[in-house]
Amino acid sequence: MAQQEDVFKKIVAHAKEYGFVFPSSEIYDGLSAVYDYGQNGVELKNNIKRYWWEAMTLLHENIVGIDSAIFMHPTIWKASGHVDAFNDPLIDNRDSKKRYRADVLIEDQIAKIDDKITKEVEKARKRFGESFDETMFRQTNARVADLVARREALHERFSQAMNDNNLDELRQIIIDEEIVDPISGTKNWTEVRQFNLMFKTEMGSTADGAMTVYLRPETAQGIFVNYLNVQKTGRMRIPFGIAQIGKAFRNEIVARQFIFRMREFEQMEMQFFVRPGEEMTWFKYWKEWRLRWHKALGLGDEKYRYHDHEKLAHYANAATDIEFQMPFGFKEVEGIHSRTNFDLSQHEKFSGKKIQYFDPELNSSYTPYVIETSIGVDRMFLSVLCSSYEEQKLDGGDSRVVLHLPAALAPVKCAVMPLVRKDGLPELAHEIVDDLKFDFSTHYDEKDSIGKRYRRQDAIGTPFCITVDHQSLEDRTVTLRHRDSMEQERVAIDDLHKIIHGRVSLNSLLRKLK
Ligand code: GAP
Repeated sequence: MAQQEDVFKKIVAHAKEYGFVFPSSEIYDGLSAVYDYGQNGVELKNNIKRYWWEAMTLLHENIVGIDSAIFMHPTIWKASGHVDAFNDPLIDNRDSKKRYRADVLIEDQIAKIDDKITKEVEKARKRFGESFDETMFRQTNARVADLVARREALHERFSQAMNDNNLDELRQIIIDEEIVDPISGTKNWTEVRQFNLMFKTEMGSTADGAMTVYLRPETAQGIFVNYLNVQKTGRMRIPFGIAQIGKAFRNEIVARQFIFRMREFEQMEMQFFVRPGEEMTWFKYWKEWRLRWHKALGLGDEKYRYHDHEKLAHYANAATDIEFQMPFGFKEVEGIHSRTNFDLSQHEKFSGKKIQYFDPELNSSYTPYVIETSIGVDRMFLSVLCSSYEEQKLDGGDSRVVLHLPAALAPVKCAVMPLVRKDGLPELAHEIVDDLKFDFSTHYDEKDSIGKRYRRQDAIGTPFCITVDHQSLEDRTVTLRHRDSMEQERVAIDDLHKIIHGRVSLNSLLRKLK
């Protein structure tokens, strides 16, 4: 675990050093849980968004996109339930004066027990070697059985308290488990209170006439309130979907793990409108399809798992998360929710407008049911970055840090390098860049030794390096170096475009989803 934490720290440092992610407002000592994307980060992020957008809107004839405003009428958030119920339970420690999420303190306690179980299992594995039977050990070892029973009891009590919205019970769990503040080391806790996560601001010129508006905490409501506009103007027939990518804001109490939990982040959401009664078929479809989208990137099938929700929000009749194995454990990257007709019905009620669909095949009107797929761009970015990062020992005692980014997502697709800065090599290299740049993000690099230049490109995940040498002047061939294998091959300049395109195009990634 400690080793994984070290790796994570290195990834965060790497992200900064190579222009992927910077702490926001850094020269003013930063702003907690807000980050800026640098020159390479923005390209990687845009490529992730493009992969999602095109997978949704190009591969599905019945999905269209919108781009709704961040500010919306405040009643929308009343109708959606966010004003009354978009809360986290918070607790303060009187000694450190630090604020925590009560549920996160308890989740961390559960994770500690999980760690202890894993340690016991690993210790036994070492002791017994080849003959180790993990299932048998888990069933028969008294210490592990005790820990498992303790974990289950705590989990059950915690789920019940969350479900009942029982703040006193949450506090009691913290007391009973003897959870201490990681900073002060004391158990001097306040009561647990609810804290609304929406940011508020005022719209209008005078304080008197100003209206309180919220920064949207999800992009989904922008889709719901435009449902009628899109359905009518696009003459959409059910089933159909509306996709949107945009910023969302949440005043997270505990924001940590780098870009995993931020106060300003980006979502890619799609609401799919279906006939009542057909929602489970579509829920299953989207659950499978979205996992396929993730797996097509080739980050490793074993790094994903579903987490089906046992306890559902009052408006949902099914929900699952797609979790990804981050250095700090399996974590939610995407949610797929069957939201019934809750949102559209609420907006119908609060706005007084009829939001119904006349189904010509059934010859009747109804409020459509909705399947939602909702993924955080930043979490997706983090999962790509973490699973691509590798520190490699090379022959001869050398080492390198390489990002094995999926080629279609890499910020730079190829770097062109003259072997020396003379004899007409830079001119030929520029000529190659000038041709490739129309189709691929291409860098020109002539500084430092060729080895150092390769390392720089490895560190930002550039799939191809093209080296121009004296032979290139004679026969118009170059060396093409592959990032992952570091193999080099001699290829004709005229073939470069075709070779690179075959590996880096988004098109080839999208085709895997057929
Ligand atoms: N419209 C449904 C919705 O917003 P959610 O589970 O609250 O559902 C969906 O959020 C996704 O948005 C999450 O799976 C996660 O990837 C991302 N997300 C949520 N809160 C986030 C935060 N504070 N920082 C970064 N990403 C976040």
